[in-house]
Amino acid sequence: MENHDPTDISEAVETYGLARHITELDEIGLTVVPQSTLGLNDTWFEQLRDAILRVAKERSGVTFDVATNPTAAFEGRPGVIGHLILSHLIHEDQVFEKVLTHPVKKALMTHMLGARHRLSVSDGWIKWQTPDTWEEESTTGFHTDQSVVPPPWNWRLPHIANMNWTLTDYTRENGALAYVPGSHLEGRLPEPGEALPLAVPVEAPMGSLVMFNGCTWHGAYRKTTPGLRVAMLGQHSRPYMLPFQDFKGRVADETYAASEDPDYLRSLMRDDEDQLRVDPFAVPRAQ
Ligand SMILES: [Fe+2]
Repeated sequence: MENHDPTDISEAVETYGLARHITELDEIGLTVVPQSTLGLNDTWFEQLRDAILRVAKERSGVTFDVATNPTAAFEGRPGVIGHLILSHLIHEDQVFEKVLTHPVKKALMTHMLGARHRLSVSDGWIKWQTPDTWEEESTTGFHTDQSVVPPPWNWRLPHIANMNWTLTDYTRENGALAYVPGSHLEGRLPEPGEALPLAVPVEAPMGSLVMFNGCTWHGAYRKTTPGLRVAMLGQHSRPYMLPFQDFKGRVADETYAASEDPDYLRSLMRDDEDQLRVDPFAVPRAQ
């Protein structure tokens, strides 16, 4: 019987040419994988973006168009900052499964989190021109994604890692993700005001996959242009942590049946635990 090591990503690294991205994750704490490396066409990304905008309309009642700011006024935080987060998208459309099981994402996530990592959130993020009433340079304050675990952290073994699929062009003016290169090596949270002067924008065209370490300091710049910034994101965690959103036992059979990597999908959703047949209370029998 073949003895496959689930942490062995050498085949995907070779097939897709990921060595540079592995190095960037280790040295910089973030990498941008271009569309050409992913081997996906424009339609793939447009379907993903349109599915997010469709769910946004169903949940908020507001029609979103990529080229313009929403005409409706939102209460609370979306109205103050100019962004809307849509959670639990895996239940809405098969395209949200495809972003989870893409072999490049799987390999880079396995590099950061090892085997049997879990999906922690399945979110879409729609951001529009930052209202003038919001005065700060960043609309998402600088943080790390694994701040739920007290520092110090070992960047080589992050508890959490993240993926962002860019579904519109990311530039500083367009309110891009901002991060501090090499900050993951610090193994701690930034002090107040420490990160912004050191930060750079993630400049990435639509159709890119941004992956980053849970120790990396990041936030987002205010959006000074009209229209939408749309992204699909997904924090993942190591298997000893409970995900932020609970997908176990809730993903439809049809979603698994249509997946190109159902075993990995089951692992992401914690639906593999029953298959492992590990009884944590088992007592060894006397011989
Ligand atoms: Fe974050």
